[in-house]
Amino acid sequence: MTQNNKKTDIESDFLHLARSALSGRTQDVQVILRRAAKRYYEAVPRFAEALSDLLRESPSAASPLRRQQEVPVPVDLDTRLHLMRVEAHPSLDHEPVFTPGVCASLTQIVQERRNPDALMRAGLDPTRAALFVGPPGVGKTMAARWLARELGRPLLILDLAAVMSSLLGRTGSNLRHVLDYAKTIDCVLLLDELDAIAKRRDDHAEIGELKRLVTVLIQQIDDWPASGVLLAATNHPDLLDPAIWRRFEMHIDFPLPSEPAIAQFVESTLAPHFAAAKPWSHVLAAAFAGRSFSDIERDLSAARRSAALGTQPLEDCLAAFVSNEAFPKSKRIGLATVIVEQGLLSQRKAHELTGVARDTIRSRAAARGGGSRRRNAGATA
Ligand SMILES: Nc1ncnc2c1ncn2[C@@H]1O[C@H](COP(=O)(O)OP(=O)(O)OP(=O)(O)O)[C@@H](O)[C@H]1O
Ligand SMILES: [Mg+2]
Repeated sequence: MTQNNKKTDIESDFLHLARSALSGRTQDVQVILRRAAKRYYEAVPRFAEALSDLLRESPSAASPLRRQQEVPVPVDLDTRLHLMRVEAHPSLDHEPVFTPGVCASLTQIVQERRNPDALMRAGLDPTRAALFVGPPGVGKTMAARWLARELGRPLLILDLAAVMSSLLGRTGSNLRHVLDYAKTIDCVLLLDELDAIAKRRDDHAEIGELKRLVTVLIQQIDDWPASGVLLAATNHPDLLDPAIWRRFEMHIDFPLPSEPAIAQFVESTLAPHFAAAKPWSHVLAAAFAGRSFSDIERDLSAARRSAALGTQPLEDCLAAFVSNEAFPKSKRIGLATVIVEQGLLSQRKAHELTGVARDTIRSRAAARGGGSRRRNAGATA
């Protein structure tokens, strides 16, 4: 290492330390000092040992929730409305269905936080910032909640679209306000609808203001402490400023659910209320293909409401999802075959729902070795 490099390292460590100490981020101060003790051990061993002694004697971090209660949640200066949602004890209505890729990335974040010493020994920091990319309703917000729950931390959600809709000139200071608050507690912070900042770029009157906003956001991400978990979600990654995009160390893609994922979701949603949840989940996986979890959840809830009011039996409500003239013929044949194969409805009923000829259904079902396991006692051939 050259003399100049050493000087730059010391300067940047010292500045980093000063910034963390002055903003009261004790855990970060500890991380920086631990790293310094390691980095400077060779050059100045006595200094490094003294640092390690100090670290051993330092008190453990105060409870994040206690600190959270001491500092009031930031509000917009005009409206006095809270700038973000705080979930002190995040919980989920049901367990998420994640793709193996999403699951691996989220688990990695959790493992890194549970095992900081292993990273520290290798001279590494945990992932500070992750970007969730995907269409609406596929579990981005849910994943943030899941992570916060797994880590036992409060979840703070800042909806950038909502903050942007207030006076643009105030957005920068609101953003700073929220992130400064979030930095003081060990939390998971979700910047929801991150592309809201980029979306208004085309409005020339506001371009200067937006540039300033992007700069504020970049500074805030750079300044985000290693102890916190910063997440951001977007439906439009293409609209993001590359400088913002680059600052997220981990990018996680949330695709629309696959058919097996839909089947798993449908089965777990219906199983507590409905004996034939499993066979129906195979049929509905095909019927709902290409749609988001939240869309599917809405349809299933509507069906359950009708059934609960006695308007229609649940089977009939579910069967109605199969009957869609817009489905291509190949999909209708597939659906009719699965219905018969799973023994849910008669060939005649499957024909009525899908418009597929009974001969076709019969031959397909026979070719796949199904069709004889009729479960629905009420159905007639
Ligand atoms: N992967 C999933 N597993 C189980 N349920 C899901 C999943 N994704 C979404 N849902 C259901 O849909 C609802 C909405 O999901 P969520 O708010 O996480 O979507 P999102 O990806 O954040 O969408 P948006 O881009 O619109 O904010 C959830 O509350 C949950 O009930
Ligand atoms: Mg969301």
